[in-house]
Amino acid sequence: MIDKIISGDVTSIVSYFSPEIFRDKNVLITGGAGFIGSYLCETLVQLGATVVCLDNFSTGLTENIDHLFSKKNFQLITGDVSKYENREKLDYIFHFASRASPDDYQLYPVETLLANSQGSYRLLEQARKDDSIILFASSSEIYGNPDVVPTPEDYLGKVSSIGPRSCYVEGKKFSEALFMAYHRKYGLDSRIIRIFNTYGPRLRGDGLYGRVLSRFILQALGGKDLTVYGDGSQTRSFCYVTDLIQGILLAISNGKVNGEVINLGSPSEITIMDSAMKLMEIVGRKLNISFYPLPEDDPKRRCPEIRKVKELLNWEPRVNLEEGLKKTFEWFNRRV
Ligand SMILES: NC(=O)c1ccc[n+]([C@@H]2O[C@H](COP(=O)([O-])OP(=O)(O)OC[C@H]3O[C@@H](n4cnc5c(N)ncnc54)[C@H](O)[C@@H]3O)[C@@H](O)[C@H]2O)c1
Repeated sequence: MIDKIISGDVTSIVSYFSPEIFRDKNVLITGGAGFIGSYLCETLVQLGATVVCLDNFSTGLTENIDHLFSKKNFQLITGDVSKYENREKLDYIFHFASRASPDDYQLYPVETLLANSQGSYRLLEQARKDDSIILFASSSEIYGNPDVVPTPEDYLGKVSSIGPRSCYVEGKKFSEALFMAYHRKYGLDSRIIRIFNTYGPRLRGDGLYGRVLSRFILQALGGKDLTVYGDGSQTRSFCYVTDLIQGILLAISNGKVNGEVINLGSPSEITIMDSAMKLMEIVGRKLNISFYPLPEDDPKRRCPEIRKVKELLNWEPRVNLEEGLKKTFEWFNRRV
């Protein structure tokens, strides 16, 4: 059964779109059992699309999608995107399959590079055959440790091609180049979104998969210290998942994004220490913080310039951090 917070979230996204846009369209979502992918599957099933979810469950969870198995317009294919074989005609392809958490992709660098290279190539070939619209989930990580913050799409990036995060960053950059090559050479309608830190229910906070807000929440609920890397002065900008999904669906359904790259993220920058404090306000008590060394290549600041997406799609996030963090905390609280 779907949790009431997630079902409320999905209803709010669905209400934004006219059902004609996606009804009866054949859609492939790679990484559909993950955090963002499962929200996309849920929303598109409700909007009447015929959804195929492809996932190898490296970080995705069956529980994110198992309530969809009974829907006649939902199908799961268990498999690796880097070995993807062409299938029946697709109208839309969303390429989200990739390990996404730094600890995890550093343990699986080859798999991460292949999902974002071989996987992208195979999907682009299918899109070329079908004349599908194909969207790639790139990342703010391609900006590296930027000198320009808020960072616009035309910032060229300050990244290491050999550092510990390079398997992720260079994979994303290769895919971006390949998506643009198919657009230029074959006129394919390919679109790139650069996602900045997104959070919400289902964002894993455990072990290797732990991303900061979920990790803080699980630590708070488990009576453990919050773990902060460095002195906590590094910044991030956190976007609640409903805002992101709305942006993704606008990006794939609006022709202005054909051949474009856009940032999707919150323009409200906050330090890691201040986000820990925000969580303490929600929990209603002071929590201890343990400090650990800053990992190599960790970006000092992260904040998107969102002028381009505002102009193209009239999109900007609507859920503030307090509201989103409260919902996320409540969701985790009900599960532990
Ligand atoms: N969440 C964020 O803040 C964020 C930020 C920037 C970019 N992204 C990108 O968005 C996408 C989804 O991220 P997420 O946060 O939902 O992560 P997630 O780990 O929850 O989801 C990724 C999904 O991809 C699947 N997967 C991984 N490798 C695969 C492979 N080779 N073949 C098939 N399936 C595979 C996983 O099992 C998982 O279900 C990723 O491409 C990620 O790089 C996410």
